[in-house]
Amino acid sequence: MLSLLCICLLLFSYFSGNCTSLDSLAVNQSIQDGGNETLVSAGGITEVGFFSPAKTTRRYLGIWFRNVTPLTVVWVANRNTPLENNSGVLKLNQKGILVLLNDKNSTIWSSKISSKAGNNPIAHPLDSGNFVVKIGQQPNKGTVLWQSFDYPGDTHIPGMKIGWNIETGLERSISSWKSDEDPAKGEYVVKVDLRGYPQVFVFKGSLIKFRVGPWNGQSLAGLPVKIPYCSQKFVLNEKEVYYGYDLLDSLEFISIFKLTPSGTAQRSFWRAQTNTRQVLTIEDQDQCENYAFCGENSICSYDGNRPTCECLRGYFPKSPDQWNMSISPNGCVPRNKSNCQNSYTDGFFKYAHMKMPDTSSSWFNTTMNLDECRKSCLKNCSCTAYANLDIRGGGSGCLLWFNNTVDMRYFPKFGQDIYIRVPASELDNGGPGIKKKIVVITAGVTVFGLIITCFCILIVKNPVAGRLYSHIGRFQWRQEYFILRREDMDLPTFELSAIAKATDNFSSRNKLGEGGFGPVYKGTLIDGQEVAVKRHSEMSDQGLEEFKNEVVLIAKLQHRNLVKLLGCCIHGEEKLLIYECMANKSLDCFIFDETRSKLLSWNQRFHIIVGIARGLLYLHQDSRLRIIHRDLKTSNILLDAHMNPKISDFGMARTFGWDQSQAKTRKVVGTYGYMPPEYAVHGYYSVKSDVFGFGVIVLEIVSGNKNRGFSDPEHSLNLLGHAWRLWTEDRPLELIDINLSERCIPFEVLRCIHVGLLCVQQKPQDRPDMSSVIPMLNGEKLLPLPKAPGFYTGNCTPELVSSSKTCNPLSQNEISLTIFEAR
Ligand SMILES: *[C@@H]1O[C@H](CO)[C@@H](O)[C@H](O)[C@H]1NC(C)=O
Ligand SMILES: *[C@@H]1O[C@H](CO)[C@@H](O)[C@H](O)[C@H]1NC(C)=O
Ligand SMILES: *[C@@H]1O[C@H](CO)[C@@H](O)[C@H](O)[C@H]1NC(C)=O
Ligand SMILES: *[C@@H]1O[C@H](CO)[C@@H](O)[C@H](O)[C@H]1NC(C)=O
Ligand SMILES: *[C@@H]1O[C@H](CO)[C@@H](O)[C@H](O)[C@H]1NC(C)=O
Ligand SMILES: *[C@@H]1O[C@H](CO)[C@@H](O)[C@H](O)[C@H]1NC(C)=O
Ligand SMILES: *[C@@H]1O[C@H](CO)[C@@H](O)[C@H](O)[C@H]1NC(C)=O
Ligand SMILES: *[C@@H]1O[C@H](CO)[C@@H](O)[C@H](O)[C@H]1NC(C)=O
Ligand SMILES: *[C@@H]1O[C@H](CO)[C@@H](O)[C@H](O)[C@H]1NC(C)=O
Repeated sequence: MLSLLCICLLLFSYFSGNCTSLDSLAVNQSIQDGGNETLVSAGGITEVGFFSPAKTTRRYLGIWFRNVTPLTVVWVANRNTPLENNSGVLKLNQKGILVLLNDKNSTIWSSKISSKAGNNPIAHPLDSGNFVVKIGQQPNKGTVLWQSFDYPGDTHIPGMKIGWNIETGLERSISSWKSDEDPAKGEYVVKVDLRGYPQVFVFKGSLIKFRVGPWNGQSLAGLPVKIPYCSQKFVLNEKEVYYGYDLLDSLEFISIFKLTPSGTAQRSFWRAQTNTRQVLTIEDQDQCENYAFCGENSICSYDGNRPTCECLRGYFPKSPDQWNMSISPNGCVPRNKSNCQNSYTDGFFKYAHMKMPDTSSSWFNTTMNLDECRKSCLKNCSCTAYANLDIRGGGSGCLLWFNNTVDMRYFPKFGQDIYIRVPASELDNGGPGIKKKIVVITAGVTVFGLIITCFCILIVKNPVAGRLYSHIGRFQWRQEYFILRREDMDLPTFELSAIAKATDNFSSRNKLGEGGFGPVYKGTLIDGQEVAVKRHSEMSDQGLEEFKNEVVLIAKLQHRNLVKLLGCCIHGEEKLLIYECMANKSLDCFIFDETRSKLLSWNQRFHIIVGIARGLLYLHQDSRLRIIHRDLKTSNILLDAHMNPKISDFGMARTFGWDQSQAKTRKVVGTYGYMPPEYAVHGYYSVKSDVFGFGVIVLEIVSGNKNRGFSDPEHSLNLLGHAWRLWTEDRPLELIDINLSERCIPFEVLRCIHVGLLCVQQKPQDRPDMSSVIPMLNGEKLLPLPKAPGFYTGNCTPELVSSSKTCNPLSQNEISLTIFEAR
């Protein structure tokens, strides 16, 4: 009723005199601050009027989004010339110029005169947040005479351009306020620099504070974070050069980017439904973000604690004494003079994961490929480096640098390849010895050779003899299990005696834990390689089945987020699987352990979540087979020395036909707490069963609590129920593990919670595929609103499972269950 009244007031506002909102301003009309008059956009989304920032009394004319709190002004007209009291009046004159008058009728601000002209100009605020003066009545049609988007303040909103109109020479840049109370132009400016290949800079006064960088086809090179819910673009042609972004769903969200008075970047989102603001502040940037922190011809890298500078290959520190402190603003100079002038013997050294150096002395071509690019760099003696211009689809275009390279940095997760020119003498020194290690391992394993006593699989990598040898032993393994194509993998066999020796005759000292189907031992092969040996000694049919399954499946799988099977050995009743050893045991040892969970930062957790998602996507989609793991849980996620997650334990996995969407089993296997309702209750399983398990793991990683065993004090809900309640009560971030509060990225955490809840929804068809989960985690895909999770109340989880507190790599601390469905 009230809102209806408002609309009526709106409609009659002009005529009745005592009403307050118009949707446009025609010639000779005005809005007066004293009368509380404003202009409201046609869709009721934005509003133009007078306001006072923070606690001040001075008045400014601005445009803001209605219905968002706190009041967020996205543009200010008279930012440098405030009104002292509420006597201001905004008018549109006959030339189509907006004028702001004070109580003495003198103009304190006016919009620029347009070269275009016409009869009956009119001013409208648009729903986008743009305030336009144009000819013609319809809000989104007609000739635009003037628009606020051409004169940005401290805020960049969707549809706005940062950059240049080459034809008219108009430059649009974002400039911070002086302070929260003073919208006048402050110290910091974001602008596009047109020298070389255009790039975006943040200036502090006349100094470069931060180089956001050039466009690489996906984003600006120095922005490690993709902007959630937004698609970015960079337009570069003869008429325009600008950076901008659009919302993926403008009805669902309002998003603004703001350059704060202290020069930090702040992005806020409002969900249309709830109107609550989520703020993403680009964190305190590390020192490597400071422009040219390490000087010329060097790379800055940041390990989480401190920055390190490193000279490019072929360069050495300009001032070696300073360099000793690992930080030097003086940079590096070439070690040897290039003899380019005499011969073209120079080569290139490749650096991966780099933020491209300053492109202001660069040259580019959008059609050349990398090879042509290399050649043209080689031909010009002043060319110092080359790279692809656009990293999408394997890379295209060419970017050449012609001077010292400045402001390069290393990103562990982002960045692109760049090729640095070095004299031939430097290339010969040999590259980093990464490949050698791998060779040693393979060779060491192959020494064991083909053993007759073991029933084994061996794929010989030799292209001529590349076929499978198999001896059918007393277990009637079906032949089709072994349709292994010649792939880039080996599965050697091990002699039982070798494994016995490696594990000290399966001594209990080397026992790492007890898995679902037998103990796991740590062993050291004679070449020194550490392995984990899984021993299936039980002779139950079921154990054998799981064993065969595991060998056959995992032998065909290769992915960095799946644990790697090094070989196998079957000898009589003894069945052994030999795996790579994981230095950091399993994920549950970290997240559920009070002291160790402190060691796991948010970045690592996010890395683990994404890694699990990738491994699972490979199982579901990208491997040749389509595999459902069926027993995904935190204790089955192993961590290597670098905390990379690897999915393990394929004893219960099943292959799945490509045309099959769901299967039914009478034998329900899995672990309570990770099983979706349709599977636990009816035995239906599909890829969505794993998605459910993944969702539980995500919520466990975020919260540091086990789904089972967790009971929220107020409502005695399980973890899923608790997460759901916090979500519906609009306080999802309270789920976060208390050990995590420092330096986590709220927006990323929120996204993980959101994705986790989507994955554990009651109905399998509501849960996303793993192929959608990854872009969702990266903020490249819109997230639908989740529905209530399965096992919301937690009532359906009978206390059947013993849970020991030991941490087992390669196995579980909760026994996997098998239940036969009652019929
Ligand atoms: C606006 O006011 C001026 C002077 O007061 C007058 O000459 C003009 O006709 C008016 N224009 C309109 C469209 O009312
Ligand atoms: C304008 O609004 C303020 C606060 O909302 C109110 O105190 C004041 O009386 C209003 N003035 C007029 C002229 O309506
Ligand atoms: C506004 O301030 C001016 C001086 O800056 C003063 O002359 C005028 O009377 C004030 N008007 C109101 C309505 O307070
Ligand atoms: C300002 O202009 C309006 C109308 O144009 C007029 O009524 C008012 O008296 C003027 N005020 C002053 C202080 O000149
Ligand atoms: C560099 O640092 C090391 C220890 O950090 C020190 O022993 C060495 O003398 C230093 N070298 C120079 C040239 O300062
Ligand atoms: C390059 O410099 C190193 C050491 O500074 C020197 O030993 C080497 O001979 C030089 N190579 C060439 C080709 O000048
Ligand atoms: C870019 O490279 C292509 C192929 O080498 C060439 O045909 C084209 O003219 C180049 N464009 C510019 C702008 O140099
Ligand atoms: C090398 O490139 C620079 C910059 O584009 C150019 O000025 C110079 O003429 C080129 N030199 C040769 C030999 O092509
Ligand atoms: C190369 O860069 C240096 C600073 O790094 C600068 O002084 C010099 O003018 C640049 N030369 C050219 C040709 O741009």
